[in-house]
Amino acid sequence: MTTTLSIIKADIGSIGGHIRPSEKLIQAVRSFVAEKGKGAVTDFFVSHTGDDIAILFSHFLGKGNEKIHRLAWDAFVAGTNVAKEQGLYGAGQDLLKDSFSGNVKGMGPAVAEMEFEERPNEPFLFFAADKTDPGAYNLPLYLAFADPMYNAGLILSPSMNKGFKFVIMDVNHTEGDRLIELHAPEEIYDIAALLRDNQRFVVEAIYSRNNGDIGAAASTTRLHNIAGKYTGKDDPVMLVRVQGAFPATGEVLAPFNIGHYVAGFMRGSHTGPLMPVKMNSSISYFDGPPVVCCLAFCVHNGKLTEPADAFDHPYWDWVRNKVSRKATDIRQQGFSGAAMLPYNELEYGGIVEKMGVLDQRFIVKK
Ligand code: 13P
Ligand code: 13P
Ligand code: MG
Ligand code: MG
Repeated sequence: MTTTLSIIKADIGSIGGHIRPSEKLIQAVRSFVAEKGKGAVTDFFVSHTGDDIAILFSHFLGKGNEKIHRLAWDAFVAGTNVAKEQGLYGAGQDLLKDSFSGNVKGMGPAVAEMEFEERPNEPFLFFAADKTDPGAYNLPLYLAFADPMYNAGLILSPSMNKGFKFVIMDVNHTEGDRLIELHAPEEIYDIAALLRDNQRFVVEAIYSRNNGDIGAAASTTRLHNIAGKYTGKDDPVMLVRVQGAFPATGEVLAPFNIGHYVAGFMRGSHTGPLMPVKMNSSISYFDGPPVVCCLAFCVHNGKLTEPADAFDHPYWDWVRNKVSRKATDIRQQGFSGAAMLPYNELEYGGIVEKMGVLDQRFIVKK
């Protein structure tokens, strides 16, 4: 029997702006899943990263299963009702459709799922980010799965000696999933050529070339491609299996010490460094900085252990200080140049209208 891990996450309302959900809201989602998930869900874990609530499900029903997706959708609707009762900001923000239709993909929530035959020991990592978009995982995934400067196992471990297959999606293509498969190490220049463009090309999945198993699965939703306008950032989630044929846990975590600059931050319209944070962290400075949380689990016969909070360690306090510095540095230049996203990525329709009005006022001098 194969085990399926599904993360389904949404922003359905938060306290004091885009900071974090209320305890009551989180509890409503948790108790909904506990009660209505009986029989379908083997185990689950609810947490939040900034203003986004993620439900990690473990079950035997396979990817894209209607029961699991409906359960998540209905739990988010139940949470939205609490958000409305409490007057939370952005109640139901990511529920972009009025009613559920089979699968939450394309309806607002972000989804990352993988299905596999459990190994005798099955460690994996859950990632959830806030105030950024799916391209934020491109660089860490490239470095963890294809670069021996970060993944020592590519040199030291025979179980990774054939490298990995990257499945990359063109998220600008909205009529169906436009995908390409590229192989590391022989095609790493091609992989890098695509992954440099975080706004357009996003890693969807990675497979071991030693045994064909799935190693990573990330969410690829771009809300502004669904809604046609800004409704919030895409705040991506990801699953990564570790050890054995895959990178060690520490090799997957290593690239997150860069605090690389990603799109998001205030109003989804800026460039900011990605800060690794502890479980259930909130958002602060300039509606940011962009944050990522990592929880390590093991799963056995579909049962989850409690999470080990991977960024809750003194080492990451030092990284957080360094990233705060990077965030402050880029904020010094306000709206200028690289600090704000290019025009075609600006999430707020307001600037489009403003440019239209200003356009009328230009004069061409002969
Ligand atoms: P242990 O000897 O602590 O199991 O660690 C092995 C390892 O490969 C760590 O990356
Ligand atoms: P979220 O996408 O996390 O809701 O943030 C939106 C925003 O505009 C923050 O300034
Ligand atoms: Mg929000
Ligand atoms: Mg968010």
